[in-house]
Amino acid sequence: MAHWQVQWLAAFLFYLCQPVLAHIPLSTSHIIAELTDGSGVLRSLKASTDISFDFSPSDVFHFRNGDGQYHTGDLTFHYRTAGSLQWHSADTAACRAQSPIVSSQSAGSVVSNLAQALPDVRASLQITRIWSDRDGDLALAFTIENSGNEAIEIGSLGMPIEFNNIFTNRTATETTEQCVFVDPYIGLDAGYLQVTRLTGTGPSLVITPLNSYSKFEAWQFLTEPEDVPLGYQIQTYEGNYAYQVHSLALAEKEWGDAEPWNSPTSAVLEAGESLTVGLRLSVALGVQTIEERVGEFVPVAVGIPGYVVPHDLTAKLFLKSKQSIECITASPKHSLHATSCGTYGDDWQGFDIVASANAFGRARLDIRYADGLHQTVHYWITHSSPKTISELGSFLTHEQWYTNTSDPFGRAPSVITYNRTADDYVLQDNRTWIAGLSDEGGAGSFLAAGMKQSVSPDISEIAKLEEMVEKAVWGRLQISAGDEIYAVRKSLFYYEPELVPKYQYDPYFNWTINPGESWNKNAAYLINRTYDYVHVSALCWALYRAGRTNPTLLARQPKEWYLAQAYNTVKYTVSNDSDGTPQTCYWNVGLMGEEGVYYWARYFNDSITANKTINAIRGYSPTVPHWGWHGNARRYWDFLYAGSIDLARIERQIHHYGSGLNALPMLDSYRRHPDPQSLDAIYDLRVGYGGNQGPLTNIDEDGFGSMAFHSYPDTLEWDTYSGDYGPNFLGHVLGAATYLVEHPIFGWVSFGGNIKLENNGTLGRVEPRDAIRKRIFIAAISLWVEIDAGTIDYCTFNTKTLETTVNIVGDRDAQAIMTWEQTVCITKAEVKLATKGLEQRLNGYALRLPATISFTAN
Ligand SMILES: *[C@@H]1O[C@H](CO)[C@@H](O)[C@H](O)[C@H]1NC(C)=O
Ligand SMILES: *[C@@H]1O[C@H](CO)[C@@H](O)[C@H](O)[C@H]1NC(C)=O
Ligand SMILES: *[C@@H]1O[C@H](CO)[C@@H](O)[C@H](O)[C@H]1NC(C)=O
Ligand SMILES: *[C@@H]1O[C@H](CO)[C@@H](O)[C@H](O)[C@H]1NC(C)=O
Ligand SMILES: *[C@@H]1O[C@H](CO)[C@@H](O)[C@H](O)[C@H]1NC(C)=O
Ligand SMILES: *[C@@H]1O[C@H](CO)[C@@H](O)[C@H](O)[C@H]1NC(C)=O
Ligand SMILES: *[C@@H]1O[C@H](CO)[C@@H](O)[C@H](O)[C@H]1NC(C)=O
Ligand SMILES: *[C@@H]1O[C@H](CO)[C@@H](O)[C@H](O)[C@H]1NC(C)=O
Ligand SMILES: *[C@@H]1O[C@H](CO)[C@@H](O)[C@H](O)[C@H]1NC(C)=O
Ligand SMILES: *[C@@H]1O[C@H](CO)[C@@H](O)[C@H](O)[C@H]1NC(C)=O
Repeated sequence: MAHWQVQWLAAFLFYLCQPVLAHIPLSTSHIIAELTDGSGVLRSLKASTDISFDFSPSDVFHFRNGDGQYHTGDLTFHYRTAGSLQWHSADTAACRAQSPIVSSQSAGSVVSNLAQALPDVRASLQITRIWSDRDGDLALAFTIENSGNEAIEIGSLGMPIEFNNIFTNRTATETTEQCVFVDPYIGLDAGYLQVTRLTGTGPSLVITPLNSYSKFEAWQFLTEPEDVPLGYQIQTYEGNYAYQVHSLALAEKEWGDAEPWNSPTSAVLEAGESLTVGLRLSVALGVQTIEERVGEFVPVAVGIPGYVVPHDLTAKLFLKSKQSIECITASPKHSLHATSCGTYGDDWQGFDIVASANAFGRARLDIRYADGLHQTVHYWITHSSPKTISELGSFLTHEQWYTNTSDPFGRAPSVITYNRTADDYVLQDNRTWIAGLSDEGGAGSFLAAGMKQSVSPDISEIAKLEEMVEKAVWGRLQISAGDEIYAVRKSLFYYEPELVPKYQYDPYFNWTINPGESWNKNAAYLINRTYDYVHVSALCWALYRAGRTNPTLLARQPKEWYLAQAYNTVKYTVSNDSDGTPQTCYWNVGLMGEEGVYYWARYFNDSITANKTINAIRGYSPTVPHWGWHGNARRYWDFLYAGSIDLARIERQIHHYGSGLNALPMLDSYRRHPDPQSLDAIYDLRVGYGGNQGPLTNIDEDGFGSMAFHSYPDTLEWDTYSGDYGPNFLGHVLGAATYLVEHPIFGWVSFGGNIKLENNGTLGRVEPRDAIRKRIFIAAISLWVEIDAGTIDYCTFNTKTLETTVNIVGDRDAQAIMTWEQTVCITKAEVKLATKGLEQRLNGYALRLPATISFTAN
């Protein structure tokens, strides 16, 4: 038989052996769904406005119908007789042979008795699942009745959520066209889930609490069998989570010392009592209207600039609810202060949010409404941003400054990876690059230290980085002579005991578990990984920029030398060897994500690709009232390659480097929006600003920058490795700015600055509070101003005359260059530089500080 015939026959036999699964159709006016006969779980879900797209993985459902594989419609919980100590667990996915009995089925509802699927439970609890039409949406409800004669405590109650986030065996195009992302807002009664397409376009799914007993308390990862055809908890399949209404038993049994997002609760059912919990599945037209749809059912919170509050910033929180607000409390107590600042539109109430000077890190606002609803908004408090940046610079160049010149791998002097738990260098790891100053996991720290100098230079830190470039980079990490001059190695550290006989490799690591993973010298010295070039290039570029603003800062090389190093390093990545073979890989397909694709597409006037890229970022970067998910680009596997070995697992990461990097194209695209004060445009600004602020949260109270935060409820901690934090900080530095916007509902607001209205509301005065205070955008006239030295003290914008002034302060000997652009041509207001007599230099204007620059528009 020909190969294709064998394959066909195999497929046919496979098909014959499958149990025939009938499906139960269930449609409402907005949703077309299909349940699996037998278990009655969700198999397919489409929006009635676009039936070509299935949110559920119906095409691979047959691979996922085994024991322990979860679907939407399953139920998992813990319970015990009230007063006893032992929790029992129950789970409708545990044994698929024991299917529930569909007791009634009509066009508008499907009711199942779950007793058969939960054999151990039925003596005490009667559980019914009801799928039904709720005003055109789909409702999923569970009624739990205490049928025994003793009180029962429900210690955890989770509704598993499964949608098509399975990328296994799909091509990139198929994945983009067929798959979705699921993101939570763990906000109790106002909590919700959003399910968005990878394309970032088309309808999104919104999942809200069905009633006031269905609060979103926790988001629990579901363990499933891994040795299955599609895999589970792997790079192509992140896995599934449960929406937890109660979580006390999980907190007691599984979460150890972790501090949950919300206080864990349980529910007690007296004999004869029952409880109904559930979810409402609705459709939003697109990502920009998710909050509007959510607002039809529960309160909505919008933070500006987001949910990261530096000590010197007055942030805003706007709450939309028909109910009055009874009280807002902070936890830890007094960590945040919320002061009413007015009402907006029909239902919005505004608050100024300020952090206490001694508060740091996680903080929560608990908001209670008159009808009893309870919402939580999750914040992160940081030091004032310049302080954060200077602490980071100091930590990197002191604690992480490695000077042992007897190191057989030649890594000193350098800014090297750090283990925050041990408070020590990471000099060994079987993922060699982490200890080898290359790859993101090993280069991250010197990259961050370099980027810091580009915006906030410090002469002693620069002295160390220049020494590192001279001694550890040029000639060691980077080849400095011969045909391969400028090539960058994959790691200085390697595992090859024969070559370093006196060196003691740490037996803590298994160096041979996966032959080839712990690189030997040859593997470590390969030069074909393009991304490694970025780090070295950025380090040199940053030193050039520092030297450009102040010639007294550099001691070892002139600034032009660093610029040439940066340029030649990047140039090498696109070079070919004498046979015409490219020297490095992947340089031509975009490195690591979307920002390169966007910028190059724009450069080559490929607006379709640029637009696709922005749409994709909209798909995977949500805006929700939680510092961890707001602007957080979906990432879940770099704990394996750059994090601590102790927690090296596939796990959704909070503020890994996708946040800082993906924010760059998002913000650039925002500034080019034809109407940057429209709600749709401001949506992008919120997402982009959230992503840009993310990297500030990684920096701890002493200045250590962690690679990402572990989001599983059993951890909820920063990774202890510095790892690949560097690219995130690079994104932060390149994207940090203050924005002044007239919001259609909230009026004048600033993203990243403190704003005051003067002259009877006609003059907006903004003091930047972003980390670098060198860039400002005036949305009303699409004016973008940047300086490379000094800081913007304040900026004014006259709403009547459209005149803008930018007041810049800084060292007298700094040589600041100002550049400006009107990002969109507005025929009704063409911006002109009004300040006369400025010397033109480096595509901009040279400034003597302090300086006041003004622009007019007419
Ligand atoms: C995935 O593709 C591989 C290779 O084509 C095939 O062997 C395997 O059966 C497929 N698995 C699933 C779950 O589709
Ligand atoms: C420096 O490195 C060498 C070689 O690994 C080692 O023997 C020595 O103990 C190190 N010195 C210090 C102070 O750590
Ligand atoms: C980091 O330090 C802690 C504390 O010494 C230690 O338990 C842990 O194993 C270290 N991690 C690694 C990967 O070395
Ligand atoms: C590294 O060592 C750890 C600890 O022995 C082991 O669990 C892990 O699988 C090893 N990883 C690699 C990539 O070799
Ligand atoms: C390292 O892993 C390999 C492969 O699993 C195993 O054979 C070996 O015993 C392990 N070594 C140690 C020291 O655990
Ligand atoms: C880099 O070069 C090595 C050695 O030639 C080769 O095995 C490897 O596949 C290359 N890497 C990539 C990503 O092509
Ligand atoms: C290198 O070779 C590729 C084809 O493999 C070609 O497209 C490219 O232009 C060459 N680059 C340079 C810098 O010559
Ligand atoms: C893109 O378009 C602009 C404006 O028409 C033009 O000036 C520029 O040269 C184009 N860029 C490329 C790479 O074609
Ligand atoms: C960008 O993509 C969106 C969504 O598909 C589409 O509505 C819009 O017209 C596109 N814009 C441009 C400029 O191509
Ligand atoms: C202040 O502004 C309000 C509303 O724009 C206007 O009615 C009022 O006359 C203004 N007062 C002065 C003193 O200009």
